[in-house]
Amino acid sequence: MTLQEFNALLQPDMMAVDSVIRERLHSEVVLVRQVAEYIVSSGGKRLRPAMVILCAKALGYRGQHHHELAAVVEFIHTATLLHDDVVDESALRRGRDTANALFGNAASVLVGDFLYSRAFQMMVQVQDMRVMEILSDATNVIAEGEVLQLMNCNDPDISVNDYLRVIRYKTAKLFEASGRLGAVIAQADSAVEEALGRYGMHLGTAFQLVDDVLDYSGNAEQTGKNVGDDLAEGKPTLPLLHVIAHGTAEQAAQVRHAIENGSKENFDTILAAIQQTGALEHTRECARQEAQLAIEAAGCLPDGVYKTALIELCGLAVDRDR
Ligand code: IPE
Ligand code: IPE
Ligand code: MG
Ligand code: MG
Repeated sequence: MTLQEFNALLQPDMMAVDSVIRERLHSEVVLVRQVAEYIVSSGGKRLRPAMVILCAKALGYRGQHHHELAAVVEFIHTATLLHDDVVDESALRRGRDTANALFGNAASVLVGDFLYSRAFQMMVQVQDMRVMEILSDATNVIAEGEVLQLMNCNDPDISVNDYLRVIRYKTAKLFEASGRLGAVIAQADSAVEEALGRYGMHLGTAFQLVDDVLDYSGNAEQTGKNVGDDLAEGKPTLPLLHVIAHGTAEQAAQVRHAIENGSKENFDTILAAIQQTGALEHTRECARQEAQLAIEAAGCLPDGVYKTALIELCGLAVDRDR
């Protein structure tokens, strides 16, 4: 399946999701509208909504809740981005100034809260207890992931498992929820729900591993984000942990110092060590292994174009540069 075929398959549903998003962004409060529309209109790949749609349709779903829930998942994602850019002090998102850079931290945090709570108003309307359980659990775990990451910042001694736990919580959990929601609305049995949850967990882990690669090697024109934010924050991501474990004593010491001090100052030296130790290839290889586990989990689905698209998504998540 080519990228064009993938997009064409999703297009009618994604247009429907977009109109739900536009409709539900509405608020009487001007600043809420401004900030929310600013971040939503700047685009985004809409991967999590695509997952909800593809999973539901792969299981033969024919109702309307998939559009609503796809929008819910995108609202939760967007709320996390508003908060995350404040915490990470990021200046660029989706190729534009971040909301915090333009409107300030207070407006970003508060409109993030608006989006979270709007997502909860919408999910309640689906009137399915399992749906609410999945989404409330995911939202809670994402918050834990961001706090765990905060605790790990400036600590070069965290293990690869500590790192993986953070990325599973902060990122993969919402992918897991997206897969589960598709199964639940399609009234699949619990074994299928579990399998699509696993699909999402592995895909989301692969996706964040690559995000952490792109923070060193990406191109801001393509990713829409600045390179080096993770280093500036002293985030011990896998590329850095790889240098500490496999670099020379000098390289390991440089990286440890950079994590402890959280500064972009020695970015070029650190990047050279990352390149010399093959840290980015290693991280992408870990992503590839996760994507392979996701593909295996998708094996529970009946054959067809939607299953093919879900498998395609695993390749896209690993090979992406945006
Ligand atoms: C960014 O997610 C945050 C991460 C989990 C890495 P996306 O890369 O899906 O962001 P958009 O929605 O496409 O901008
Ligand atoms: C994103 O982590 C996780 C969430 C938004 C919950 P990052 O901090 O790596 O995401 P980017 O790189 O800012 O998009
Ligand atoms: Mg960030
Ligand atoms: Mg990142």
